[in-house]
Amino acid sequence: SSSGSAEKEKTFAMIKPDGLSGNYTDEIKNAILESGFIILREMTVRLDEDTAGKFYAEHSSRSFFPALVKYMTSGPVLVMVLEKVNAVADWRALIGPTDAQKAKVTHPHSIRAMCGQDLEKNCVHGSDSPQSAEREISFFFEEFSSGAVGSKHDELLE
Ligand code: PPS
Repeated sequence: SSSGSAEKEKTFAMIKPDGLSGNYTDEIKNAILESGFIILREMTVRLDEDTAGKFYAEHSSRSFFPALVKYMTSGPVLVMVLEKVNAVADWRALIGPTDAQKAKVTHPHSIRAMCGQDLEKNCVHGSDSPQSAEREISFFFEEFSSGAVGSKHDELLE
């Protein structure tokens, strides 16, 4: 790109089962678009235990892991690739703190304050770093993966 122009960045976003079942999808997408993101890809998927466990593998030793997997497999989720300048940090700022209960107090205009309930049912997910974004995008979207490993795309569409 030309000198001085900021680089666009991609991040991974997911509307979790409580977000979809609570019919928050339109409100969340409006917030995404109003904040200047482009939704490059989106796909509704139903995660099985294996897929949810692999997605959250970094938390596999945590006490909450079984509950997290059970919750994430309880209904469909909407996965998205978002793009804008500073997408990773800006999406995390827009969704607010992990604990939606706390978000309602400290970040009342955040997405989790709007549609989340607590630490588990927190409505949305966002990548916590550019490295996570790359992994999480290629986990779901084959066209962004190197082709070697990581994409669940074909399995999810079976
Ligand atoms: S930590 O401790 O910073 O690594 O964890 P955190 O980033 O706050 O949370 C990681 C994801 O795990 C979910 N989580 C939980 N689920 C169920 N029960 C409990 N107690 C719990 N604690 C954390 C949390 O919603 C995070 O999900 P994502 O999708 O990454 O936001």
